[in-house]
Amino acid sequence: MAQKGEEPTQLRHLNSINDLTNSEIEEVFALADDYLDRFGDPAAAHRIAASHTAGAGHILATLFLEPSTRTRLSFESAMLRLGGQTITSSDPATSSAAKGESLADSVRVVSNYADAIVLRHPRDGAARLAAEFAAVPVINGGDGSHEHPTQTLCDLYTLRRENKQLKGLNVAISGDLRGSRTIHSFVYALARFGANLILMPAKGMGLPAHVDARLREEFRCVAAPKSSYAAEDASIDALYMTPEEPHQLSLIPAPDTEVDIRLADGLRQVDVVYVTRFQKERWAEAKADYPTVNSDFLKADRYKHSSVLHPLPRVGELDVAFDSDRRAVYFRQAAYGVPVRMALIALVLGLEKKKAFKRFAGGFEERPKALYEQPHDSGIACSNPNCVSHDPLERQYTRNKFHVHVGETPRLRCYYCETDIADFVVASRRGKRYKSSGEAGTLNALDLRTTLFFKDAAAAEGAGFSHGAPPRRQAAR
Ligand code: NCD
Repeated sequence: MAQKGEEPTQLRHLNSINDLTNSEIEEVFALADDYLDRFGDPAAAHRIAASHTAGAGHILATLFLEPSTRTRLSFESAMLRLGGQTITSSDPATSSAAKGESLADSVRVVSNYADAIVLRHPRDGAARLAAEFAAVPVINGGDGSHEHPTQTLCDLYTLRRENKQLKGLNVAISGDLRGSRTIHSFVYALARFGANLILMPAKGMGLPAHVDARLREEFRCVAAPKSSYAAEDASIDALYMTPEEPHQLSLIPAPDTEVDIRLADGLRQVDVVYVTRFQKERWAEAKADYPTVNSDFLKADRYKHSSVLHPLPRVGELDVAFDSDRRAVYFRQAAYGVPVRMALIALVLGLEKKKAFKRFAGGFEERPKALYEQPHDSGIACSNPNCVSHDPLERQYTRNKFHVHVGETPRLRCYYCETDIADFVVASRRGKRYKSSGEAGTLNALDLRTTLFFKDAAAAEGAGFSHGAPPRRQAAR
């Protein structure tokens, strides 16, 4: 047990990019710079070419239940370059999951074989679930369409190496914004560092509603009115400005404001174009019209100084003829996976003297959040069908678990996949009454020990609750 004055000993897992503070992200980059300086290839500035010894005696497990080339190999290369060792299970067909083993059992077992686990999984929220059962840090190597935080570290680091300041940067994002987990982590980070987002999704593939809502409600993004850019470029679906200071929010409704000027600048000069492939494994339908980025698209004046990024693999949406263009940085972006992941592993495991992430429970802002937890078959379940909590292998032990956000826009955020539910019903076990989340005062002074949430009124009534406030003496505290 920690003594007074000692740091608490919780493990630091990396499930979402929001599990790192901005200064921790900068720490990763500073250490990655240091590694490139010390172990880089003198002939190729983006490449690690020599090995360190700080990781000697440590083992990294890569547990990949979905295809991967870059993420797994760059993590393994990073661990080997640190002087550590790696073990891997990379073929879902030959892992115990194929025999029906749960993720909880797999990570409990692998925790005994390694000092950290990198997990890739087809289900949203799998990394958070794994972290609940692991005795060592779990790093999310991509979970369904939820997030891919270490890809975002590589993306931001690439921009830094290209001398692009994130604050005020105009970043266009093209492709499958709904299914692409790399984009979800990326937009949160860009907003947190003050970049502006120019969203150019393929038809019907805009950001998931809860990601979009979080950008506006938690990350201070302000959507520009469509009339301000629709005539300029029909492929733009949304434009988000991130005010540099909160007080600038008050300027937004007025015409000819600073934001309008910055908006016009954003359309005049796009600093970054981030391209992604159609995530065919996450869609039931085949893709129809999908945007292609090529020299023709990029010949517009506003792309003259753009850096073009892609997390790769590409499957036709980014023309190979563009590879020799000075604006193409995607292969360097993939190369930075090694120094960035070396730095991340070193900070998670505390391999460098006096450089380790602080061990608080996680979150870039350490706000205490009320947690609602019920057995799987009682009350509300996550609304995302791809959430790990619905996986037939995991259902037997997962619970309905939500962060409860009270305030102007009450919502339940799934503890695992972070999908939000805005409309729900709140029932008190004491008075056997329920109210909808939209009714005034519903979430005031909630006592989670006596509260059940339901999907809707019918579900609450089916469980024996009736509408209305509980009798006063039984009011929830
Ligand atoms: C990405 C992924 O797996 O989400 N690949 C990667 O890790 N670089 C992008 C993708 O598969 O489209």
